[in-house]
Amino acid sequence: MRLQRLRTSQAWREMLEETTLQVQDLIMPVFIHEGLQQPQEISAMPGISQQSFSSLLTEIESIAATGIKAIILFGIPLKKDSHASEAFNPNGVVQRAIQEIKSIFPELIIIADCCLCEYTDNGHCALSDPAKTLLTLQKIAVSYAHSGVDIIAPSGMLDGMVSAIRHGLDSEGFHRISIMSYAVKYASAFYGPFREAAGSLDTFKGNRKHHQMNPAQRREALREAELDCAEGADILMVKPATLYLDIVRDLRNRFDHPLAVYHVSGEYAMLKAAAQRGWIDEMPAIQETLLSMKRAGAHMIITYFAKQIAPFL
Ligand code: PBG
Repeated sequence: MRLQRLRTSQAWREMLEETTLQVQDLIMPVFIHEGLQQPQEISAMPGISQQSFSSLLTEIESIAATGIKAIILFGIPLKKDSHASEAFNPNGVVQRAIQEIKSIFPELIIIADCCLCEYTDNGHCALSDPAKTLLTLQKIAVSYAHSGVDIIAPSGMLDGMVSAIRHGLDSEGFHRISIMSYAVKYASAFYGPFREAAGSLDTFKGNRKHHQMNPAQRREALREAELDCAEGADILMVKPATLYLDIVRDLRNRFDHPLAVYHVSGEYAMLKAAAQRGWIDEMPAIQETLLSMKRAGAHMIITYFAKQIAPFL
């Protein structure tokens, strides 16, 4: 009965909790689609929709009402081309969304995913010329900054992307904008539903194994994180989350940077599917899942469950 003494009542168990899950830990992803008249649910992600400009602010309001402090924005443009030119159009889909959201919800922290894959006609995260890719990422980040973004999140796993973006931001005076780098992103099978969400289902054929990490690698994750720290990343991210908690702990032990995890589309879909069939009890399963990320050492969790779970925390 030595350790069970510590579990004798709910109040006592709560007082002794080592790890907590709080609403300020959560970041809610938001998809904004330039071509929609009304929101469209993503078939493999029940409860998550691409927003239209007519539904965007209502969605943001319902997110902010739960106490969530940050969103991460993904844009789906009408036009894609070989240069990803819509991504740095000052009136592009993300630029407009940032401006609209900031005008009504100035306190809400807007993180913008910064990548080419939603904007290229082949769905790739990079152009064929690496130098041009970095220059393009820099242009995108600067144009998001002009629209009022708070944090830039480069997600392409390309060497040099963080320093290119940092230089671009600094040279335009945007010193206060942070970079949240997808520093350790694995070539995962769990991004499937995101392809539909990001509108690259038809354009993207192939895989991203040339730049995303091999799931077999552990020590290499530390090298990736080191590189991004050296390039000026303010916040590190590990992605996916639940399958890579060992990596989260490795990074937590080695770096003092704030650490984020991305609970990705396939991880969401798995839990939703089991819950919809009544095979697991949804709310406790979500809480336990997200808590495991905090316990592994994450500060922040990007999760499609954010809006659903926030009122219960
Ligand atoms: C790429 C990007 C991806 C995700 C976020 N940013 C897809 C990819 O790398 O193939 C996946 C997120 C998810 O699955 O929820 N810019």
